[in-house]
Amino acid sequence: MGYRKSGESVGFVPTMGNLHAGHLALVDEARVRSDRVITSIFVNPTQFAPNEDYNDYPRTEAEDAKRLEAHAVDVLFLPSVDAMYGDVSSTTTVSVPYLSSILCGKSRLRHFDGVATAVTKLLNIVQPDIAVFGCKDYQQLTLVRQMVGDLAIPTQIVACDTYREKDGLAMSSRNVYLSEEQRHIAPRLYQELSRAVDMIKQRKAGFDEIGLQIKTNLEREGFELQYAEVRRQGDLHPPGESDTSLIILAAAHLGNTRLIDNIAFELT
Ligand code: PAJ
Repeated sequence: MGYRKSGESVGFVPTMGNLHAGHLALVDEARVRSDRVITSIFVNPTQFAPNEDYNDYPRTEAEDAKRLEAHAVDVLFLPSVDAMYGDVSSTTTVSVPYLSSILCGKSRLRHFDGVATAVTKLLNIVQPDIAVFGCKDYQQLTLVRQMVGDLAIPTQIVACDTYREKDGLAMSSRNVYLSEEQRHIAPRLYQELSRAVDMIKQRKAGFDEIGLQIKTNLEREGFELQYAEVRRQGDLHPPGESDTSLIILAAAHLGNTRLIDNIAFELT
């Protein structure tokens, strides 16, 4: 593209498409921080388990391209699976040990290896000065930050807050799977996490106790909770006595749809 050769800075936003306002907020952040903005849409097969929704994942490239144009994106990069991997089964894999095995990594085996490998490859192809990721996928953001540091990839990782619907539900491409009734219930996940943060801040509940409360309350509403845990911000280790920058993270199924959310908070 020659942008960097001519002294222009490049901001990059990797996505899997079906773009919503959360994705576009990342694009706007890249726009403010860089001379040129590149977005990729690549539904990455290696981060989906065989029982997951790779084939059904919503693909809306024409609408996505229009939205990106309206947000002044300079380049839309749409690599094919073949161009990214050749033979998927024998490609080199990037793996971040601890961060890929906890929380979502416990139930989504190899998911984060797929993410790490795709993001490494995209960063190497695009060679951006900055790449913007959402806090909605906090474990992914943390893993990408560590990987970029460990592998000395010369890209600065920038984080954007989670973009929510008016009722608090975190925007996600997977929200289109929710039935009308499920869509009505879905904001309870964020409400429960908000309530839990208040309880913790007021020292009304310990971390284990709050996890159990969230499970009971959400399962009563029809969710199936995978986890709800308090961790340290930054490295997602279990918090020690002196840690004050914390984050509560949860994943739950509502019917067949898997929802995740998190809230970062400070203990004072
Ligand atoms: P995707 O789910 O399309 O998300 C692309 C980027 O948008 C990620 O950084 C994600 O955290 C961010 N995002 C999604 N919903 C958001 C919301 N409600 N608010 C703020 N940011 C949000 O995440 C992936 O794709 C893939 O794993 C990818 C990084 C592209 C690698 O394949």
